[in-house]
Amino acid sequence: MRFLRDAILTLVLLGIAAVAALYFFGRNGYSTRVAPNAAEEFIALRVRDLATPADAKEQVNPYGNEPNAWRQAVAHFEDHCAMCHGSDGRGRSEIGKNLYPKAPDMTRPRTQGLSDGELYYIIDNGVRFTGMPGWGGEDSPEEMWKLVSFIRHLPNYTAEEMEEIQGAGQGGQEPAEEHEHNEGEAKGKPPAGSAPPKHEHKE
Ligand code: HEC
Repeated sequence: MRFLRDAILTLVLLGIAAVAALYFFGRNGYSTRVAPNAAEEFIALRVRDLATPADAKEQVNPYGNEPNAWRQAVAHFEDHCAMCHGSDGRGRSEIGKNLYPKAPDMTRPRTQGLSDGELYYIIDNGVRFTGMPGWGGEDSPEEMWKLVSFIRHLPNYTAEEMEEIQGAGQGGQEPAEEHEHNEGEAKGKPPAGSAPPKHEHKE
């Protein structure tokens, strides 16, 4: 008898789980192309806020008084963050806008309203169940605080600054890469030898 009762209970619970899953995934399947609705975003950000330790929120950016510290983070941001957040932090990259949740526009109050310590904590730890990776194991505290400085600068980041810094920083090696394949195809060139194009990623 006991076995029967347990079996029925298990089936009922599985049924409830299935209905809940249908409710959540039913309309849009598991597509990441839609945006979370306002309630979902509100709850997720509230939970994230509650899960951030109070002393982490109060941390002060040691480079907060250096008006140019953000410049030292631009190349780093370009390398590790821009693929999702866009070079201007507005989340308009191909990857960023198709994630669920999307990479946010970091010039807006949602991001700028966070304390420096919160920004640092998010960069350090990442955000579970989202595309945001934690960088603490890779990047030094100095690098991460300078990224915070850069994020603070984003709302005032001008096109001129972007051009000036990125033009100077990249040394012109990377941009050619993307065109290489297409040009080769367009001109009907045979593949150059057997060596595949290099996609080196410098650490
Ligand atoms: C693979 C994609 C991806 C990469 C790479 C990435 N992020 Fe994110 N990031 C996200 C997503 C998605 C969110 C939104 C998370 C959420 O909704 O809680 C996010 C959120 C953030 C936030 C919080 C902003 C807010 O308003 O919620 C900060 C700060 C941030 N990222 C900084 C960075 C920095 C700095 C880097 C590079 C060192 C980086 N991210 C790399 C996808 C990415």
